Amino acid sequence: MPRSNCGSWKGNVPFPLNTAISRHYSCFLLLVPVTLLSSNSREQIIFRSMRRCFISCVFFAIMGIFVTNNGYADGVFASKPVYVPNVSHESDPLSDSTLRWDATMKTTNVPADTANAHFIFYFTNVAVQVDRTAKTNADGEVLWMTNGMTPLPVTILDVHPSCGCTTAQLPPLPWTLPPGANSRIGVTVNLAGKYGTVVKSVTVSTDQGTRDLIVQIMIRPPVIPVLTDAERIQQMAIAKADRQAVFKNDCANCHEKHGEYKYGQALYVADCAICHDAKNRASMVPDLHSLKVPTNDEFWRTWINHGKPGTFMPAFSSADGGPLSDMQIASLAAYLNSAIPSKVPQPE
Ligand code: HEC
Ligand code: HEC
Repeated sequence: MPRSNCGSWKGNVPFPLNTAISRHYSCFLLLVPVTLLSSNSREQIIFRSMRRCFISCVFFAIMGIFVTNNGYADGVFASKPVYVPNVSHESDPLSDSTLRWDATMKTTNVPADTANAHFIFYFTNVAVQVDRTAKTNADGEVLWMTNGMTPLPVTILDVHPSCGCTTAQLPPLPWTLPPGANSRIGVTVNLAGKYGTVVKSVTVSTDQGTRDLIVQIMIRPPVIPVLTDAERIQQMAIAKADRQAVFKNDCANCHEKHGEYKYGQALYVADCAICHDAKNRASMVPDLHSLKVPTNDEFWRTWINHGKPGTFMPAFSSADGGPLSDMQIASLAAYLNSAIPSKVPQPE
């Protein structure tokens, strides 16, 4: 079925006052009190300024008439016709024969701690209206038919991202695309605190229908850096004096910053794996996946909050001078309690 009329042109809006001319005549009104008030004998100066004002008034009056005459049509001032979209098809699916996209799903792969992922969706307005005209004879038989194709404007009415972390970059709405127009919509996802695979969408609603643009971002886990023996010996010497040193100065770049705004597994990968899952870790750093003691939520929470004085295991709670909030610690304990079930039965 050809789609019914999709919008209309509204124009010839009456515009009765020639404001341009009336504004410039106010120049005369100003001139009268100025002339009366100046008891100053320097009439020459006043005369010169009057003459200048008169000349500019005449100039602007002529310009005003000129500008206004351009807009005159049968006694009314006409504004430029405005395309008014018909919004009754907004909730239909938007077909590829209306807006043709370079892709409606885009994927990228970024290193850990990338601030934003940015995508550009390119599209072309290929919308046409098909008008069938049939010529029939007196008996109602069809003699001939024609198909008229009229390219259509498409108006983007609304662009709605699936979350507050996603924004779309486009001109102000409503955005009318002339027939055949090529354009683009930018989509930016803020990745702060995000981990793993992130999928977001942006819903584009037009007067011809609605469709989702989907973006998928694979965030690679943070790379555990390889240290030299000298670095390792120096780190351990500093940590021996102060086990909280890992959260301070340069140490924080590797040991604390990656965990900011993160929760659960993402927080474990950033803040704990660097010591506990490092290939070259020191012998006193235990493997948390094969503990010889019973574990539960309380066990994880206590170790994360307070660590162990006299060892390299730091205290992570802000109450103990660590970087993590109670919410972050609760999420981390819950994650560990489910990811690493207790291998040793709980005592009765
Ligand atoms: C700077 C290195 C370092 C970091 C970072 C670190 N740990 Fe530890 N952790 C240790 C060391 C060393 C020990 C052993 C302490 C001891 O001698 O008992 C330990 C012990 C533990 C234990 C006790 C295991 C047992 O044998 O009972 C738990 C649980 C634990 N860490 C969890 C965590 C969690 C969760 C994180 C992240 C929030 C974390 N650790 C971050 C070094 C670290
Ligand atoms: C370039 C990143 C980086 C910086 C900066 C860094 N560390 Fe580490 N740290 C690591 C890595 C990686 C490990 C895991 C062990 C390994 O690979 O040698 C680690 C492990 C540790 C351990 C556990 C013992 C061990 O060697 O397994 C302690 C304690 C420690 N760091 C303290 C510190 C202190 C204190 C500072 C600041 C003076 C610091 N680190 C700075 C990357 C870093």
